[in-house]
Amino acid sequence: MSTINYSEKIPNNVNLSEDRTLQRALEHWQPNYLQWWQDMGPEGSTNFDVYLRTAINVTPEGWANFGHVKMPDYRWGIFLAQQEEGRKVHFGENKGQAAWQDVPGEHRANLRRIIVTQGDTEPASVEQQRHLGLTAPSLYDMRNLFQINVEEGRHLWAMVYLLHKYFGRDGREEAEALLQRNSGNQDNPRILEAFNEKTPDWLSFYMFTYFTDRDGKFQLNALAESGFDPLSRTCRFMLTEEAHHMFVGESGVARTIQRTVDIMKQHGIEDPAEVRKHGVIDLPTIQRYLNFHFSVTVDLFGADQSSNAATFYSSGLKGRYEETKRDDDHLLKGNQYRILDVSNGAIVEREVPMLNSLNEVLRDDYIRDSIAGIGRWNRIIEKAGLAFRLQAPHKAFNRHIGTFAGTRVAPDGRVVSEAEWKASERSWLPSEEDRAYVASLMGRVVEPGKMANWIAAAVVGINPPPINFEDIRFN
Ligand SMILES: [Fe+2]
Ligand SMILES: [Fe+2]
Repeated sequence: MSTINYSEKIPNNVNLSEDRTLQRALEHWQPNYLQWWQDMGPEGSTNFDVYLRTAINVTPEGWANFGHVKMPDYRWGIFLAQQEEGRKVHFGENKGQAAWQDVPGEHRANLRRIIVTQGDTEPASVEQQRHLGLTAPSLYDMRNLFQINVEEGRHLWAMVYLLHKYFGRDGREEAEALLQRNSGNQDNPRILEAFNEKTPDWLSFYMFTYFTDRDGKFQLNALAESGFDPLSRTCRFMLTEEAHHMFVGESGVARTIQRTVDIMKQHGIEDPAEVRKHGVIDLPTIQRYLNFHFSVTVDLFGADQSSNAATFYSSGLKGRYEETKRDDDHLLKGNQYRILDVSNGAIVEREVPMLNSLNEVLRDDYIRDSIAGIGRWNRIIEKAGLAFRLQAPHKAFNRHIGTFAGTRVAPDGRVVSEAEWKASERSWLPSEEDRAYVASLMGRVVEPGKMANWIAAAVVGINPPPINFEDIRFN
């Protein structure tokens, strides 16, 4: 079961050929997917030979095989992590039951909703990133971009498989709709707001893959705990791919910072306007990009008080991050959790039932994880002997979902008036001018081993090819 069968039209390790109805349904969906890739995938890249890794088995080690591939020929397919013998539902009211191999009738609507919402984010990010190949700062970066794009495409396959196999006719309709909604489309947008934002430049791309792919990590971890075993297994395998996406983000921002502080030191300058004269991205602009991507991403976890979140948990559909490692009763009926609220113009803490706060629990776990990387970025600045420090904004800053949606909160957590917000917005979030400046630096660099001026060289290649490796052949 661990090896993926590549001799079939749709590579898989789920014995697809034994389920003719499902095979036919997926073979019908496949050309629509390829058409979507053609229309909405990486722009102008059809003929490139890209050095990509393809999963060949689903064991944690050695599952990836590298070689030059034209992206439309990438072998997207259906790969589930190996089944765990005797796996149980670990939480909620069905705790202790055998994990479900089929969808329990009473949870069908909720499960479908969870799968569609996750599935919708996967092609959305490919759409958001579709122009970035035109301005990649190096071949190394362009390869990373395309690797992420094909894997997000496979993540869509993962969710579409579940819809087709377990949800009958509505599943098939949902699978079609996943190809019809488009990021930023006025009439038929993607479901979640962060996935309708633009990813117009490479600093945005690195911030997105650091912060927003990390949302993916936490959502997938919560779904990997699911009592619905096929969902758990597919999410477990997706997580092995997610790690590389976040690495691209973290190292991309680190290299951007490295180049900036090198220039600052070399010329003995700190004033952002002076720094910009050297064609690198000043640290306050990096902070504003960070503020934007952090705040847009924390919104993805949903309302801080949510009866849906409680239902998903109590029914055993969606757990907490690392549910099985926690030593409470996994029912949470009497548990409390501290959430934030606004009272008399200030942010206060309030104790509420934990079951209703599970979105907030996941958000807080996410925030702890994302702050760690910011610390690593700061060490680069510190090593250069500069006083500037990057910081995660307060969790209530720039929120559009939940308790803080109608409240203006500064990055330091002060509730501010609309007038103060208006006056300060330009120093807290990227302005049109910041975005235009960053855009002005973007330009494609395709000579093997060369980097754009605004970013430092990558420290290691993948797999690991030498730094002057031909990651992509353009034909
Ligand atoms: Fe993904
Ligand atoms: Fe990802």
